[in-house]
Amino acid sequence: MKKIIATVAALALVAGMATAQSKKNANTFIGLAMPETHVERWQKDGAALLADAQAKGYKAEVTFGDADQGKQNTQIQDFLTKGAKLLVIGSVNEGVGSVVADAAADGTIVIAYDRLITGSKDYDYYITFDNYKVGTFQGKAIESALNLAKATKSKPKYITLFAGSPTDNNAKVFFDGAIDVLRPYVEKGVLKIVGPAPMKSGDAAFTKITTENWKADIAKARMENLLNNDAAKVTLDAILAPNDTLARAIIEACAADAKYTKKLPVVTGQDGEVASIAAIRDGKQNMTVFKDTRKLASATIELADALLQGKAPSIAGARLDTTSYNTGKKTVKAYLLEPVIVNKDNYKAIMIDSGYYKESDIK
Ligand code: BGC
Repeated sequence: MKKIIATVAALALVAGMATAQSKKNANTFIGLAMPETHVERWQKDGAALLADAQAKGYKAEVTFGDADQGKQNTQIQDFLTKGAKLLVIGSVNEGVGSVVADAAADGTIVIAYDRLITGSKDYDYYITFDNYKVGTFQGKAIESALNLAKATKSKPKYITLFAGSPTDNNAKVFFDGAIDVLRPYVEKGVLKIVGPAPMKSGDAAFTKITTENWKADIAKARMENLLNNDAAKVTLDAILAPNDTLARAIIEACAADAKYTKKLPVVTGQDGEVASIAAIRDGKQNMTVFKDTRKLASATIELADALLQGKAPSIAGARLDTTSYNTGKKTVKAYLLEPVIVNKDNYKAIMIDSGYYKESDIK
């Protein structure tokens, strides 16, 4: 009985401390700057970050930059004017560096969210998913769907490559993860690349496969062009698409081509967007990679909370990497969460049973 009373008293004390802390937090403002809304995930990121910050008692606001760095910089300046003590920034491109420098000068903490802010020495923390692994999942899905291990030089498989925005560091990491899986098959001559063929993101040809600001219409136009030119005389077995928004645009272009009305190429994706889950169910898209934005948001607010209170962060479910992420000016502390591969076999368990979507959302 005594033990129970002591436990209850201890719990009440912790709860009391939490409320006291939460009251203190009410005077602390956190600015949440998201890059865009045309890719569905960012709306979820923004909403989850805001809810998690408010749940800890912080004052917080979220903005979306419409893939326009000038616009996002104005939004971030506005956060600084309002006295933000911490900024969570999912940047559009490295043009964000000037306002990150302003934040540092003000003593405002910056956390780079999902996308590394390159070219800056003015922040210390980065939180994201293991993006190289995301690319690996895409490469492995193609490897297994095309049975590349059994492919031969006399009957090679054909693939075309797409990458994300040239100004988003993630686009390079995703591509490197995927091409590292596929490269041995290209070198053996059993996998033929149709169109530009970079073998790593650092190659000049990489710029020919990128998609400015991750815009679907740009990917669709490039796919149509490939179908009418480089890919006119072959039947593509696969297309490396870096995310779901671009995957569906690419699939749309292929579906309008007589050659692919019966059988589409194997197309990869990322983000677990609701329309792509439907496309996976219907056999149009091969896979996606789920990066649970709820987990990224809650880990980020845990990190923010620790930093604001001057405590050493220990972030549940995230791996700390203090050596791999260099902005070009300094190495930042990176917290990495685990991505999950999603395909026809497991989409129900991963996307619906986890409560991320309702069955009725998948139209
Ligand atoms: C994110 C992806 C997203 C892409 C386009 C990347 O930086 O990691 O999840 O699909 O941006 O918004």
